[in-house]
Amino acid sequence: VNISSLISPRTILTVAFVKAVAFVYPNIPSSVVTLVPTTNSKFGDYQCNAAMPIYQQLKSSDSKITLQSVAQNILKEFDGGEVVEKVEIANAGFINIWLNKNFLCSKINILVNQGCIPPPIKKRLKIVVDFSSPNVAKEMHVGHLRSTIIGDSICRILEYLGHDVLRLNHIGDWGTQFGMLIAHLQDMYPNYLTESPSVDNLQRFYKESKIRFDTDEEFKKRAYDCVVKLQSFNQDYLQAWKLICVASRKGVNVVERGESFYQKKMITLIQELNDKGFLEDDEGRKILWGSESKEDIPFTIVKSDGGFTYDTSDLAAFKHRIEEEKADWIIYVTDEGQGTHFQIMQNCARRIGFYDPTKVRVDFVGFGVVLGLKRSQEKLKEKNRQSVLTEKELDEAAESIAYGCIKYADLSHNRNHVYLFSFDKMLEDKGNTAVYLLYAYTRIKSISRSIQLNEDAIIRASKEKVVELNHEKEWKLAKVLLQFYDIIERITKDLYMHRLCEYLYEVATTFSEFYDNCYCIKRDAEGQIQEVHMDRIILCEATAVVIKKCFDILGIKALSRM
Ligand code: ARG
Repeated sequence: VNISSLISPRTILTVAFVKAVAFVYPNIPSSVVTLVPTTNSKFGDYQCNAAMPIYQQLKSSDSKITLQSVAQNILKEFDGGEVVEKVEIANAGFINIWLNKNFLCSKINILVNQGCIPPPIKKRLKIVVDFSSPNVAKEMHVGHLRSTIIGDSICRILEYLGHDVLRLNHIGDWGTQFGMLIAHLQDMYPNYLTESPSVDNLQRFYKESKIRFDTDEEFKKRAYDCVVKLQSFNQDYLQAWKLICVASRKGVNVVERGESFYQKKMITLIQELNDKGFLEDDEGRKILWGSESKEDIPFTIVKSDGGFTYDTSDLAAFKHRIEEEKADWIIYVTDEGQGTHFQIMQNCARRIGFYDPTKVRVDFVGFGVVLGLKRSQEKLKEKNRQSVLTEKELDEAAESIAYGCIKYADLSHNRNHVYLFSFDKMLEDKGNTAVYLLYAYTRIKSISRSIQLNEDAIIRASKEKVVELNHEKEWKLAKVLLQFYDIIERITKDLYMHRLCEYLYEVATTFSEFYDNCYCIKRDAEGQIQEVHMDRIILCEATAVVIKKCFDILGIKALSRM
């Protein structure tokens, strides 16, 4: 890695500490080196906690070793270059690091004149993100909305990093509900093969057939039979299936690869499982265990009536994504309840032999369900802005706020938690909400606009000389801005998007603190400009660049006026 090209101080420090540790303690794994931002600026900006674990590992074989000596040895080899102002060993062998001002300032210039350049990646990965994934003919629910919002944002961050992302909408179009719908279609439209009726109210059609399915045993049996016929590609049943799919997709524009896509692959997979003796008979069902010890719940591969299941299609899809799509990483974004299903799927795949967890990374991104979705969008019209904005700007603002609020409310919560859907909360203009942050962004953009200074002029100025940041609040803001890369790195590890929202909020509040304490444009009593503080204008622009990038990743449109 070319260190000078890195922007994140934490990454640069980590690389330097890893190097020092490897030199002094060649047998210690580099993973002991962790750097965290300090909680109190008294202790510098970052803290390296490597001495303690090294001391723990070596003390039994080396009686003279002390925590202090470990820290000292590391420091002797440590070369932080231009990044570091000073280092100090604190109690318990913590190494405290103060960042060099000039270094940091030069990175602020880079943020302005090159934008948030993506950090380097070791390898461009092929990543399949399975998200959104509604079911044909069934109503979409807010769970699908959450999956869509969270999944989209995960795709955005991975694309920003430069990976090859395949967004996959795994549509439910091959399961039991189809048996039910086909049986009902046959009754309602006996001539469906020659007349191709159009089912115009699929919602109602679904409800009718569901009632029959739940109350009429005869119908239920027929429905299951229909699934089997469909899955064996019986032409008449395929025709019925197509009619229903067409009806369902009217007006919905999705890139799709439904469960049906995998039918032939399921057949081949079952053949393989049979040949290798993996399938077990269980009262007529064919099941597959995830482990020899048969501890978890088995996958049902073939039902007693011959039909395939959600388990079957997911296993086949998983195989396809690994072997055909050549995915390095596969991410599933669905409600928390499906976690076990995907865990068993991975176990089965490992057992069969097509999945090696050291080669392919798999993440299950689960989320809690949404409670109490009721209120409409009316609240949005409260703020009367007609007088300030053009019609087009007003429309744009309304749209960005509407989508932004809903997405942000979702993304800013830890996805594992259930969350209470509340328009009141998401539309508040204070606190960690989209409205507050969108306003913060427009306020920042309006600073330079108020003196007719455009972006190009600021970029030009940022190329001329390294900014000088002297005020404590300027300094604080600059450091927060450069933490952007730390957050991105963390999210690529655990895929928790709310971290980005928390960070975004911190940027906005730190900016306010700066702006309240440091003038950017000095005016006299008449409002005439007396002085423009160009370094601070550049810092404002750097803040805008970082906020805009966060919005991009969250799928929210930043507005320069609203
Ligand atoms: N259609 C499913 C549902 O609505 C979600 C599919 C998720 N993806 C998958 N590969 N199983 O619950």
